[in-house]
Amino acid sequence: MATNNPCSHSSFLFFLLLLLHFTLGKSQLQVNYYSSSCPKAEEIIKQQVTVLYHEHGNTAISWVRNLFHDCVVKSCDASLLLETAHGVVSEQTSERSFGMRNFKYVNTIKAAVEKECPLTVSCADIVALSARDGIAMLGGPSNIEMKTGRKDSKESYVGVVKDLIPNHNDSISSVLSRFQDIGVDLEATVALLGAHSVGRVHCMNLVHRLYPTVDPTLDPTHASYLKRRCPTPNPDPKAVEYVRNDLKTPMIIDNNYYKNILQNKGLLTLDAELATDPKTAPYVQKMADDNGYFNEQFSRAIVLLSENNPLVGDEGEVRKDCRYVNAI
Ligand code: HEM
Ligand SMILES: *[C@@H]1O[C@H](CO)[C@@H](O)[C@H](O)[C@H]1NC(C)=O
Repeated sequence: MATNNPCSHSSFLFFLLLLLHFTLGKSQLQVNYYSSSCPKAEEIIKQQVTVLYHEHGNTAISWVRNLFHDCVVKSCDASLLLETAHGVVSEQTSERSFGMRNFKYVNTIKAAVEKECPLTVSCADIVALSARDGIAMLGGPSNIEMKTGRKDSKESYVGVVKDLIPNHNDSISSVLSRFQDIGVDLEATVALLGAHSVGRVHCMNLVHRLYPTVDPTLDPTHASYLKRRCPTPNPDPKAVEYVRNDLKTPMIIDNNYYKNILQNKGLLTLDAELATDPKTAPYVQKMADDNGYFNEQFSRAIVLLSENNPLVGDEGEVRKDCRYVNAI
């Protein structure tokens, strides 16, 4: 019988431990974790995000993408921020990180926090809080309850980035299962893609939909526009040739993304498929119809993403410089 099978016992135990590991990690995050150790931390981060936004609006966009690329790779642990040095190979060198920008300004935020409270506030929490504040600056929901208390990884996971971050042409079902694995449900996954209502896509990531023949699922007028922006089938990866995600409100996180993809004006293959896949289409329609509903789901989804498998307590460290692990 199965109950007498030591193997199934131990796998059950293993499962329990795994569950405990995940739920314990999450439950150790808390709202205002720094209230006594660094009471001004969140205020300083918000202030820096605001100043940077007024200097370079696209920094706020980067903070949102950073949360995705950091949290989907093992945990929200600032592994993304490590630069190539001292035997570490940066996750930023992965082809999935193509187009990511503004990393240098994370150091500006961290420096302001370090000045107030040395070695106290983790880079992982800076990733999470700057994403929250960036979303608010971009007109998205401003009431996201972001917990803190994450620690920073001591390593980069560059070797698994390609397995864990979906590609622009991956299937909806693989993307859904990827997010499911980290506790982000179907509705929340559809909401997260709404982040593609800001920012840009480089020609490199969309010319396959234009050449040699135009993808028939693309709106023809939009396709002509895209061909003007991306005139050659083989763009130089170093050239700054790109298209803005949302031509109407390019700097605002809103439900215009869903309106666009329903009009066959999505840029990535994945964006286009989100609108037509029978699993996701009903949510796309609902979000296109109701910005309040989108905001609600987007907030919920950002929190789920930000709480993926955090390092807490004695796990990890608080990096002094977000670009490097602390010296031993
Ligand atoms: C799940 C599948 C996803 C795929 C395959 C994907 C892929 C991409 C690609 C290819 C780009 C364009 C990069 C470039 O050419 O410069 C991009 C941009 C962006 N993505 Fe995603 N993404 C996904 C999900 C997300 C999520 C969940 C978020 C955040 C919640 C996000 C936030 C962004 C942002 C903000 C940009 C614009 C960056 C900028 O303009 O600097 N993406 N994404
Ligand atoms: C997806 O795009 C990449 C280039 O970014 C390409 O190498 C790959 O063959 C494409 N996969 C599919 C399934 O079309």
